[in-house]
Amino acid sequence: MKIREIEEVKGFMPKHEGEALLNWAKIFSNIGPILEVGTYCGKSTLYLAKGAATNNQYVFTIDHHSGSEEHQLNEEYFDNEIYDYSKNRVNTFPLFIKNVNKFKANNIVPIISESSEIASEWSSNLGMVFIDGGHSIESAYNDYNSWEPKILTGGSLVIHDIFENPDEGGQAPYEIYKKALKNNYDLYERVDTIACLIKN
Ligand SMILES: C[S@@+](CC[C@H](N)C(=O)[O-])C[C@H]1O[C@@H](n2cnc3c(N)ncnc32)[C@H](O)[C@@H]1O
Repeated sequence: MKIREIEEVKGFMPKHEGEALLNWAKIFSNIGPILEVGTYCGKSTLYLAKGAATNNQYVFTIDHHSGSEEHQLNEEYFDNEIYDYSKNRVNTFPLFIKNVNKFKANNIVPIISESSEIASEWSSNLGMVFIDGGHSIESAYNDYNSWEPKILTGGSLVIHDIFENPDEGGQAPYEIYKKALKNNYDLYERVDTIACLIKN
């Protein structure tokens, strides 16, 4: 799996942030499996999987595959290629599976579900959680509250799309980032809008 090929995959993970994600996955998959909220078409998942392969570790990735608010018809990030006109809905799953097969990534475990629903049934501890799901305040807090307790001490919580300035982007990821820092997390590293926090 070559980094420059992952860059070509449809998604919301620029190269410099994807490379950071890959490096953190290499480090923290040594502690336990990785879980991602917000698969979309698998771009970030592939970066995570490449890193996790270093430790023969799995990446569980959750998405209902119906898209977030901003991906819906007539919204800012609507994309024709992932809209199923026969069912009048966004469906990112077919392109995601195509990408997984193209890269022959054999350490990705897709979970098609609402994030908080599967969290309530989930009992395994995790080495790293990456939150990149719904960006409403409710969704971001649900993801934080659902998945943060499953992270092992010394493991990491990674949050995407952190914007301090409301003119640059939505505030929900920034809110959970601040909450984690107030609780038992320290900043490990930040690259642009993506931050990796380590659990004490
Ligand atoms: C910003 S996109 C993820 C981008 C992806 N990480 C990438 O690298 O391209 C957010 C994704 O989260 C999913 N999503 C939003 N809310 C969700 C929820 N409550 N449960 C599961 N998936 C959700 C959407 O369907 C969408 O595919």
